[in-house]
Amino acid sequence: MKKVNIILFGIGNVGSTLIQQLLDAKKQWEKHSGVSVSIPVIANSRKALFNAAGISENWQKDFKKSAEKYKLEDILDFTKENDLEHLIAIDATASKEFVDLYIRLIQNGFNLVAANKVANTLSAEFYNKLRKELDYHGKYFYYETNVGAGLPIVQTVQGLHQAGEKVTKIRGVFSGSLSFIFNTFSENKEKFSDVLRKAGRLGYTEPDAREDLSGNDVGRKLLILARELQLEKEFQEIKIQSLIPEKLNGQTSAEEFQRRIGELDEIFFQHKKDQNKDHVLRYIGEIEVGSANLEAKLISEPKSTALGQIKGADNIFEIYTESYGDQPLVIQGAGAGAAVTARGVVSDVLKLSQRLN
Ligand SMILES: NC(=O)c1ccc[n+]([C@@H]2O[C@H](COP(=O)([O-])OP(=O)(O)OC[C@H]3O[C@@H](n4cnc5c(N)ncnc54)[C@H](OP(=O)(O)O)[C@@H]3O)[C@@H](O)[C@H]2O)c1
Repeated sequence: MKKVNIILFGIGNVGSTLIQQLLDAKKQWEKHSGVSVSIPVIANSRKALFNAAGISENWQKDFKKSAEKYKLEDILDFTKENDLEHLIAIDATASKEFVDLYIRLIQNGFNLVAANKVANTLSAEFYNKLRKELDYHGKYFYYETNVGAGLPIVQTVQGLHQAGEKVTKIRGVFSGSLSFIFNTFSENKEKFSDVLRKAGRLGYTEPDAREDLSGNDVGRKLLILARELQLEKEFQEIKIQSLIPEKLNGQTSAEEFQRRIGELDEIFFQHKKDQNKDHVLRYIGEIEVGSANLEAKLISEPKSTALGQIKGADNIFEIYTESYGDQPLVIQGAGAGAAVTARGVVSDVLKLSQRLN
């Protein structure tokens, strides 16, 4: 049986859910997929827990008791000393510093699975260098959860493109938080600031909601998909409509922004009022492949369309291609949350494991 060794970086929301899902999947994989999975190292930004035989269900207690300060070198030495093969480093951090270590991991025999979007949204130069390094060392990199969390977006776009299908446009709601905000605001009579507060309480927005309202996260996802279609784009080239008024931008502290969010009410009330009948507000991402135009923006959409009908914090992706014609291929569902994201990572791990010899 093929034994795969997972080195997990990041044990927050996604990472800790992932550990449980991997431990639960172990028996089934051994029986049906010919893969035995073990997690010999888990780490956060400061400490790592080492166990050559693999961590157990008691990992949280063990981490508290036995995790030690570490450097990447310690992990590399540990995998060598213990002859750990079929190595997969999982990036469940949101860290740029950690991405700086990817190349060394690849050079030291690791394959990569990332929930972290950073590596795919840095410069095109780094993006290409990473892929060259993977090719040179015969290693793999999976990152399905970078867009749409557990929804199969990246693999679908990759599959269509690799099969020679001409993808002409991708359009949709790429952000769970902005989906919730505009789905709720469009349907109810609540003030925009009340909807924003509710989104925060439910854990949909980042602690500083401006991270969501800036549209940058949608921009990053557009860039990731555009690069799958071989569009050589940089983040700065994306047209992103920020929903944060100038007077409440980054110069203002998070606390002050929170105190003043009532100032958004009039702006969004006007957007709502200016719409045609039976229209709703949606914050969308759009890639026009022919013109290589990437845009994130607030639009008014007829209620009757697939985009106009989404609910809750769902994501929706419309993929237009030559063969599908005017009727796009549509993928819709929960585009955020630890359980679906971790499941997407588990699925990447299994696919990658099956390719390792
Ligand atoms: N939650 C979702 O719905 C979702 C969906 C799709 C993708 N993602 C992505 O998944 C990733 C993880 O999200 P999350 O919600 O689990 O975040 P989180 O709860 O904040 O956890 C982040 C973890 O990463 C660790 N970390 C930070 N820097 C590190 C470093 N340099 N080396 C090793 N570990 C480091 C943190 O350790 P400390 O505690 O020591 O800081 C923490 O354990 C993010 O990139 C996010 O964008 C999340």
